[in-house]
Amino acid sequence: MGFPGRVQLIDVGPRDGLQNEKQPVPAAVKIELVQRLQAAGLTEIEVTSFVSPKWVPQMADAADVMAGIERRSSVKYSVLVPNMRGWDGAVRSQPDEIVVFGAASELFSQKNINCSVAESIERFAPVVAAARAAKVRVRGAISCAMACPYEGTVAPERVQLVARLMKEIGVQRVDVADTIGAATPRQTQLALEAALAHYSLDEVSGHFHDTYGQALANTYAALELGVWNFQSSVAGLGGCPYAKGATGNVATEDVVYLLQGLGIETGIDLERLVDAGQYISAFLGREPNSRAAKALINRRA
Ligand code: HMG
Ligand code: MG
Repeated sequence: MGFPGRVQLIDVGPRDGLQNEKQPVPAAVKIELVQRLQAAGLTEIEVTSFVSPKWVPQMADAADVMAGIERRSSVKYSVLVPNMRGWDGAVRSQPDEIVVFGAASELFSQKNINCSVAESIERFAPVVAAARAAKVRVRGAISCAMACPYEGTVAPERVQLVARLMKEIGVQRVDVADTIGAATPRQTQLALEAALAHYSLDEVSGHFHDTYGQALANTYAALELGVWNFQSSVAGLGGCPYAKGATGNVATEDVVYLLQGLGIETGIDLERLVDAGQYISAFLGREPNSRAAKALINRRA
């Protein structure tokens, strides 16, 4: 098996994780979470979204959160941007990378960003051009790459199409996202292979929600293909407000534990990561949604 020797993780907890929380989370808590993640060795963090506060109220403090982080030169900070309005806000906060977010499913595109897949690409094109001109990197998320809460199973050809459209407008790398955490390993490999028709192995990442408990198996299946970039969420936080019933991303703690066991380097200190997960979980008034974190916490006791 051609497993990668090193894996790059992007923790999306502050963004994908917290966007779904009903209770207000103060900017100071979000900032502290980001600080703890970088202290644990995360070198890529998806911090927030410059989206409409009417659609996602929890991300309304995007500028404050970005302004409050003590930046490290070794860490890349990314933010979601759906349109030029979002870019205008994002650029002032100097992200290292922006994420335009589209979908392989038409109905999800409508529910999430209020436009068709074709319209979304038209909206993203000037955003991508502006970001590239400003030397800000651009990633593209492909939601519902395997399954959609409104359309059911999604064909890999849809992923291939969106990957091609994103490539054509200058998106530099893509996330293959199982938004509702319903996919199984073979399906995951087919979706990743579809994106790999237009992007190289270094440019495709896996973004797996864990609703059906398949995300670690899907991560392993992606590693088998040589994919070495993944998004995960500390304490398993997360979910998309426009994908009802879908739970959080695979927990970063669980992925790091898996990778350590496989002898794959991540640069992450698992104990400090568990502390970061405990910090945010305590604020939210619940236990970390990570089996590895719970096991390590029990062992400490
Ligand atoms: P719209 O209503 O079609 O847009 O929303 P609009 O251009 O007609 O604007 C409506 C209002 O929003 C206007 O304000 C705009 O100014 C304002 P009003 O005149 O009514 O007062 N507005 C904005 N405000 C702040 N920032 C902006 C912005 N744009 C417009 N950027 C829009 C279209 C895309 C804005 C909306 O649908 C939206 O914000 N959607 C956000 C959806 C979202 O954040 N979803 C969660 C993230 S995606 C995800 O979780 C999936 C992922 O994790 C991968 C996976 O798991 O699948 C990435
Ligand atoms: Mg997500």
